[in-house]
Amino acid sequence: MTAPSNSSRTYSRTTAKGAVVILRPMTAADLDVVAAIEASVHSHPWSRDSFTSSLAAGHDCWVAEAGQRPLGYLVAAAGGGEAELLNISVAAADQGQGIGAVLLDFVVAQVAPKAELLFLEVRPSNAAAIDLYHSRGFNEVGVRPNYYPRGGGREDALIFARVLSGDEH
Ligand SMILES: CC(C)(COP(=O)(O)OP(=O)(O)OC[C@H]1O[C@@H](n2cnc3c(N)ncnc32)[C@H](O)[C@@H]1OP(=O)(O)O)[C@@H](O)C(=O)NCCC(=O)NCCS
Repeated sequence: MTAPSNSSRTYSRTTAKGAVVILRPMTAADLDVVAAIEASVHSHPWSRDSFTSSLAAGHDCWVAEAGQRPLGYLVAAAGGGEAELLNISVAAADQGQGIGAVLLDFVVAQVAPKAELLFLEVRPSNAAAIDLYHSRGFNEVGVRPNYYPRGGGREDALIFARVLSGDEH
């Protein structure tokens, strides 16, 4: 893992395309921007209150930024030897630049010391996210039928999981 930079909770990563991305803990001051990105990239976005609740619950909440401009974020929860990636999002204008991959690799390293498995749920229609998860060693392990609202109906959730070997650091 790359060494922490100035602040012990701020990390620098380089995307596959050679761009430097800073990862730092999300704070309440980020929520206007985070909620705006969320609303613009999801058909059924989290509310601002959902992010506030995750911060209050002590979930792993991280922002990826460049030049102090937030590009994306993640939220994960760990407990009982398992972790769940609750949200991973990249601003529409910044997608396809390797930032989602940086975020996903980062959360794997963050939760590896406290969990043996990392789970997530994804819509079958979300090809970009599914490709990202496959590229990072996640496998489909189950389905929650009719889990997500979609249009006037419902859509299944695919459950993906990755074994955390504990050596990601
Ligand atoms: C899913 C998401 C986080 C990916 O972030 P991203 O920064 O665009 O992804 P990256 O550029 O890091 O791409 C990493 C890999 O994901 C896959 N991928 C990303 N965008 C893709 C697309 N449009 N189509 C197919 N595969 C795609 C590829 O495997 C890619 O690897 P490659 O560049 O070597 O081909 C982003 O598209 C997003 O925020 N989407 C809206 C919110 C969302 O759906 N979140 C996930 C909910 S489960």
